[in-house]
Amino acid sequence: MEVKTIEWLGDKVRWLNTMLLPHEEVYVESDDYERLAVAIERMEIRGAPAIGVAAAFGIALAARKFSGNNLDEFKTYISKVISRFSRTRPTAVNLFWALDRIKKLVDNYLGSVEGLKEVIVNEAIRIYNEDLEVNKRIGLNGLRLIEDGDVVLTHCNAGALATAGYGTALSIIRAAWYSGKKIKVIATETRPVLQGARLTVWELSKEGIPVKLITDNMVGYVMSKGLVDKVIVGADRILTSGHVINKIGTYTIAVVADRHKIPFYVAAPTSTIDTKTVVDDVVIEERDPNEVRYVLGKVLITLPNVEVMNPAFDITPPELVSAVITEVGIAEKPINENLRKLLTNTPT
Ligand code: MRU
Repeated sequence: MEVKTIEWLGDKVRWLNTMLLPHEEVYVESDDYERLAVAIERMEIRGAPAIGVAAAFGIALAARKFSGNNLDEFKTYISKVISRFSRTRPTAVNLFWALDRIKKLVDNYLGSVEGLKEVIVNEAIRIYNEDLEVNKRIGLNGLRLIEDGDVVLTHCNAGALATAGYGTALSIIRAAWYSGKKIKVIATETRPVLQGARLTVWELSKEGIPVKLITDNMVGYVMSKGLVDKVIVGADRILTSGHVINKIGTYTIAVVADRHKIPFYVAAPTSTIDTKTVVDDVVIEERDPNEVRYVLGKVLITLPNVEVMNPAFDITPPELVSAVITEVGIAEKPINENLRKLLTNTPT
């Protein structure tokens, strides 16, 4: 397997600080759940599924450290830890999905503190292992959409670095490549945090998958020149209406792809599907303005106090989405109806 983005080591968690890539490959180890929460906020760990796994591991770390044998006190403590993780980043639904899974087990548990600690740790490890399995299946399901020789454009990083492993959009690209299809990838740089330039390029190059980098504002030109056959992106949240919330810039790419009749695919696990929220209630994370004023906190590229907007995600309406590829199948148009069908056939 390519790269271990995050790992449970039994008494601590190890993760790759993705903010330092591609120049430095630094792994961090900690047994402190607060350090893990901060790692999510600072985007050392990022990408919807990876955030969910990190939060689950964080709660497992917190559980292991609790001393005492009063079950009510333990449950109160765990609910505070869950609440801490729920405030790290607001948009990726996988975070809340993972927190809910653990919360339900905690609420229904009636045994000893030690027993509940074991239940929490095992559930966190299960969430990690399931993510690996699910991502592999997304890749295999999406394989039939990719033809030999395709040039596939992807945005941000929906790869191993955004998940427990393999990735979502990049899992399909990997599956196509390893099945012998000679594809090429175009990665958008993805301002302002540069996940495309720093992470997607690094991840694909490590495996010898051909990748070409463009700036975000080149998408229209390369599509108009017929240089892109398909788009595959990941998602932070998909509503049952078919709206796709993903990295800022995704919507622009979808509009231009539609203009040029280029299929626009979204790859995501069913844990990214939000069955509860309507589009107007989705919280789009607004990040630190200095991410826009500076390049990666280092080079000031504008006036230091200029007002800026920095929404981290945007919303692509279902009419621009050709299909959503999940681990349980592909939802084609009409996306909303077909997503619902996929979910009804999925065991919970
Ligand atoms: O702000 P980020 O880097 O966490 O945003 C990540 C994305 O938008 C990804 O496309 C999405 O989480 C899917 S990752 C498999």
